[in-house]
Amino acid sequence: MIDDITRISSEAPVQVRAAATIENLRDLEAELLGKKGSLSELKKGLAGLDPEGRREVGAALNVARESIAALIADRRAELEAEKRAVVLAAERLDLTERIGGPVRGSVHLVTQTWDRLVDVFVGMGFTVAEGPEVETDWYNFEALNIPAAHPARGMWDTLYVDLGDPETVLLRTHTSPVQIRVMTETPPPIYAVMPGRVYRRDTADATHMPVFHQIEGLVIDRNISFADMAGTLEAFTSAYFGGSIHSRLRPSYFPFTEPSAEYDINCVFCEGSGCRTCSHTGWLELGGCGMVHPNVLRNVGLDGEEWTGFAFGFGLDRLALMRHGVDDIREMYTGDVRFLEQFPS
Ligand code: DAH
Repeated sequence: MIDDITRISSEAPVQVRAAATIENLRDLEAELLGKKGSLSELKKGLAGLDPEGRREVGAALNVARESIAALIADRRAELEAEKRAVVLAAERLDLTERIGGPVRGSVHLVTQTWDRLVDVFVGMGFTVAEGPEVETDWYNFEALNIPAAHPARGMWDTLYVDLGDPETVLLRTHTSPVQIRVMTETPPPIYAVMPGRVYRRDTADATHMPVFHQIEGLVIDRNISFADMAGTLEAFTSAYFGGSIHSRLRPSYFPFTEPSAEYDINCVFCEGSGCRTCSHTGWLELGGCGMVHPNVLRNVGLDGEEWTGFAFGFGLDRLALMRHGVDDIREMYTGDVRFLEQFPS
């Protein structure tokens, strides 16, 4: 028996060292020290020995058990440390990946577009106004000559906020409500642009996002005509896109303008000769515009005999996409650095 104990003790260090994982070590521990382990089996044999032999073998068994337990404890600590090191290495953020000094972030493409548009309009003498993104039905619809149940409400898939009476508070579906706020708060003459974030109950796809941006324009003064509007949009177009890009107007319908028009510009890619982006028409649709409807003027307490004006509104994200040849609006909102860094500010 003593020989067996000696053999087990002398083999143990090699076996313990060979245990490559904590699980292996646990199995080995059971094999050596467990209830059915080799030392326990030997211990059963003590019963058949005389007292002298029992003392001698018992002592040897205890010594063997203690030294093996110590070996296993040391190996376990070692394996746990290794495991921690592996986890740490895997979770470590490699901040040294970029070489060549610190990298500066840049202003997001939407913000760049916003800033440039505002710059162009400010250069033309416009002021800038902003309004809240959570609006009431009055500002977003009613005051804009879109009463409840008006079929034109279907033009805007609306997200309502669970506040007050049902369907009275909403996320603004366009920047047009800011026109109402500006007209209510400032006496004419008014020359203002209103950029902002807007919301629609739309599923995201290559051309739609439930959250996007628009810029609204409003002019209210004496003797403002449709020709002033066409001239202003044309001046903006060449200031923003460069002299070779022109604008045109097509008849359209919006409840808050009369007459209303759709505002197109020459395709910025083919400059009018026809390409895939403009579906071979040579034109890109930018937004809507028109002469402010008399009902809208009445709603904000302006005398339509004295004051006339025009308004326009177009999608800011769409404009940025067209200008940079990006074919999926979702790219604007995924925050992918590979996309973002293509537009340093
Ligand atoms: N608010 C309109 C929309 O979101 C765009 C628009 C059309 C704005 C005509 C205007 C306008 O100011 O006159 O579809």
